[in-house]
Amino acid sequence: MAMKESAFAGSDAHEIANPRGLPLSGNFAVNPADNVTGYKSFQAGSFSFKRDEYFVYVTTPTVTHTMPADSFLRALMRDVAWGFFYGTVNFDQVFGTTNYYGEVDMFTGAMNEAYVDAGRAFVERFKADQLMDIFKQMISDWTNEGYDPFAAPMETGTPWGIKNGDNDEAVKRERVTARRMVGLPGDTPVRTDENGYPINRMFDDVVQDQPEVHAAPGFEHEVSAYNLFAYLSRSDVTWNPSVCSVVKDSLFCPTSEEYILPVEHGNDRCEWFIQLSDEITWNVKDGLTGRPKAVIHAKAGDCCCMPSDIRHQGFSAKRSMLLVWENGSPKIPQMIRDGQAPTVAVAF
Ligand SMILES: [Fe+2]
Repeated sequence: MAMKESAFAGSDAHEIANPRGLPLSGNFAVNPADNVTGYKSFQAGSFSFKRDEYFVYVTTPTVTHTMPADSFLRALMRDVAWGFFYGTVNFDQVFGTTNYYGEVDMFTGAMNEAYVDAGRAFVERFKADQLMDIFKQMISDWTNEGYDPFAAPMETGTPWGIKNGDNDEAVKRERVTARRMVGLPGDTPVRTDENGYPINRMFDDVVQDQPEVHAAPGFEHEVSAYNLFAYLSRSDVTWNPSVCSVVKDSLFCPTSEEYILPVEHGNDRCEWFIQLSDEITWNVKDGLTGRPKAVIHAKAGDCCCMPSDIRHQGFSAKRSMLLVWENGSPKIPQMIRDGQAPTVAVAF
């Protein structure tokens, strides 16, 4: 999760933005398991969610939308783990959520120009904690034994078939949210073989040395360092930027990536990417309409900044290391909506 804990609860008593002026919906339900598939179905307002052996069906008053179960579960896992994240999490071109930090808009087609033009877009607003409760029950019920929606596809079982056990150990992983920095006393620990983080098969060439720290007398508990490459070589999940160091609102959220970012992330602020190893191809589209804007091929050492008005999805053919740098200030989205802050980090 690439956010501080406070961002999910609603930020520092700031007013919760509601650009569409939507009322809050209720009507949450968890329905009994289906006699044939064994899966529960779920209701949130006018949205209903159902899965079977291969597919997930999201039904709203304007569409019945079908997604492959693996894609849906991988995206749902990120939306749950990231607490709805910054801005919009598009599960695909149709379904997704937009986070207003305390309240969430959930939509079908609202971020897709063709659906909007056809009058098929639908948006409903929910209290974040109530919708999150439904999402958490959904990811738990719909994930079968042996399948880990956080894992690279070659490192996990399959999600298909009728209900077969669960994998709550995977879907309820503790989030890495360092309060100051990984490795500090009392903070998130450095990863080792001993605490359950072996080196990933694709990073067995990564040097595992740790830096020597020679603190001046009296500062032994204030100075710390760790080998970030070694830390990332031991990540057991993919596409899961985690807070590893915090300086006020500056959050370093490194992550290891393999296969496809399971969501098209629509930022509500600028977001920096520093490619630490290997390569990622980014498809960049307009945030609101989904119109294609750019394809970026990021190689090790490359740095780019995603503007605040786009959506992006990455493809990593070999496991790679990415540093995502976020400004976690709760004021930024509204400043951008009000035109007080730019949509790009740098103007040339
Ligand atoms: Fe992003």
